[in-house]
Amino acid sequence: MSDHLQNATTQDIQDLDNLTEHREIVTFMRRSSPLNTSQRTALEKHQEFILQYPVGDLRQAFPHPERPLTVEIGFGMGRSLVLMAKANPERNYVGIEVHIPGIAQCVYEAGLAELNNLRVLDADAIQVLKEMPDDSIDCIQLYFPDPWQKKRHFKRRFVIHERMALVEQKLKVGGTFHAATDWEPYAEWMLDILEHRPRLNNLAGKNKSYPRPEWRPLTKFEKRGLEAGHQINDFIFEKIN
Ligand SMILES: C[S@@+](CC[C@H](N)C(=O)[O-])C[C@H]1O[C@@H](n2cnc3c(N)ncnc32)[C@H](O)[C@@H]1O
Repeated sequence: MSDHLQNATTQDIQDLDNLTEHREIVTFMRRSSPLNTSQRTALEKHQEFILQYPVGDLRQAFPHPERPLTVEIGFGMGRSLVLMAKANPERNYVGIEVHIPGIAQCVYEAGLAELNNLRVLDADAIQVLKEMPDDSIDCIQLYFPDPWQKKRHFKRRFVIHERMALVEQKLKVGGTFHAATDWEPYAEWMLDILEHRPRLNNLAGKNKSYPRPEWRPLTKFEKRGLEAGHQINDFIFEKIN
């Protein structure tokens, strides 16, 4: 036994035993995949789109911080986020993702579209939300989040009560949480949780999913789900107090 362990108190050992339980549970898995040439070039050429964590108040990253702010969690390759930012120049958009090729692809397309209302960052969205002032975000969108299908992984799902409390805290009153999924069991799970949040009101009516809005562009994972024959469910909940 090492000196260190010989000197450890019972409390130290208990702390060590509990270490894994105290470690923060994240909703993603970082995957390393190579960047193609245009993605690598975009990361160097278009630094103006990239925020460095920690950033604090995301609104201050824009030339017009007073404009409504949409935050997208896990934008994947970012095509739909770029299209939304392009279609709504009067709003500011921040995309948060941990998948570097996705960030690079998004920046590449934002550069082509010459956007000045979009910023992206490589970070855990939960940590970024925690740093935002309360009542500061107009819309938080979560499109086709990882469904974490195994029971032992359910705690990694983004939509759980604890994370929704954070979402509610950071949304403005009248702001919305918009989620979409192609995984039916996750859709049922989401609806059950969201309907039990007293600060949120289902804009589709109680226990209903929202008709797919035509202004939400198709995402890569949505396309994949449709090709597999899955049904798409959108949920839009408004913060009411
Ligand atoms: C299944 S993909 C969907 C991507 C995209 N929204 C689409 O529909 O094509 C989910 C993405 O969310 C990202 N993600 C999950 N949790 C996250 C978090 N806490 N912060 C940032 N990104 C996250 C993952 O890295 C992954 O790229």
